[in-house]
Amino acid sequence: MKISIIGAGNVGATTAKTIANRNLVSEIALVDIDEGVARGKALDIAQSASLAGFDTRVIGSADYAETAESDIVIVTAGMARKPGMSRNDLAHCNAKIVTAAVTAAVERSPDCVIVMVTNPLDVMAHVALSETGFPKKRVIGMAGLLDTSRFRYFIARELNVSPREVDALVLGGHGDLMVPCVSQTSVGGKPLRELLPGETIDALVKRTRDGGAEIVNLLKTGSAYYAPGESIAEMIGAIVVPNGKPIPCTAYLEGEYGIRQAYCGVPCVLERRGLSRIVELPLDEPDIKALRLSAAMVTEQYESLLKTRDRES
Ligand code: NAI
Ligand code: 2OP
Repeated sequence: MKISIIGAGNVGATTAKTIANRNLVSEIALVDIDEGVARGKALDIAQSASLAGFDTRVIGSADYAETAESDIVIVTAGMARKPGMSRNDLAHCNAKIVTAAVTAAVERSPDCVIVMVTNPLDVMAHVALSETGFPKKRVIGMAGLLDTSRFRYFIARELNVSPREVDALVLGGHGDLMVPCVSQTSVGGKPLRELLPGETIDALVKRTRDGGAEIVNLLKTGSAYYAPGESIAEMIGAIVVPNGKPIPCTAYLEGEYGIRQAYCGVPCVLERRGLSRIVELPLDEPDIKALRLSAAMVTEQYESLLKTRDRES
């Protein structure tokens, strides 16, 4: 399989390296408006092949011709936030970048699956769906795996166990109203609520919701990329080698969980053609309410972006 990654910045390059390390695909094309950055990072990654033990060909370019006939196009092009900014503050600027990126990419790869990463994630996935006219199964987004990985890590630190022993699920939009589902969380098979007092769990939920901002405030010049790169590679693995297991991804909902016409993080089974199916878990009432509220916020942000665009045109 061939993958193209649009945007060779921190997330794009880390994702290319992580996917190459996993030896998942035959070719990765890394594209950026800055040709030197794309070519330089691709060459650097390619030169690690003999040590890392992968055969994936990694090339970098500013020319979308290199992306032709990709099976998957990952979009990481765009601005990252700085301290004090919300992800939604990036909407206007990144919508233009995402529109240009997906238009150029699908011209060369009309059958690809698009995996959106650029923020605000759910809104940008909606932009890609509407700009490409692709079926919803071929436009999905990555955020839930990252948010869930953060939640698992914070719980593991609190209980002094391995993060791999923690089963958790974070759903909803990738923003302040994301939904760490406590009722779906267990450690070594024991429900989280039996292991930690309510106020500790509330603090872990808050730290997860603020997880991206915590890193932005520390870095000061950009946002997270190691855990995002690993999360994107995990999602690509589930597309390239489907295993039937649901993972949290951003998908377009048309009635699932009572949500319509919005992108939102939900448990998804992936396959080579993208989204295979959305799994409707029997969430408890507070989680369902929180999920709908989170999706309503995404809808509001998407509609506000459309209004701004209308005013401009
Ligand atoms: P970065 O600033 O390091 O890289 C962005 C890259 O995009 C730059 O190399 C820039 O030259 C390139 N670019 C800009 N316009 C372009 C265009 N029209 N065509 C091709 N390339 C273009 O930013 P970073 O850290 O890589 O983040 C990228 C995006 O991913 C941000 O919007 C960030 O918020 C988002 N993100 C989303 C996550 C998620 O969970 N969904 C996790 C982490 C980051
Ligand atoms: C994060 O949560 C930047 O959205 C990205 O780290």
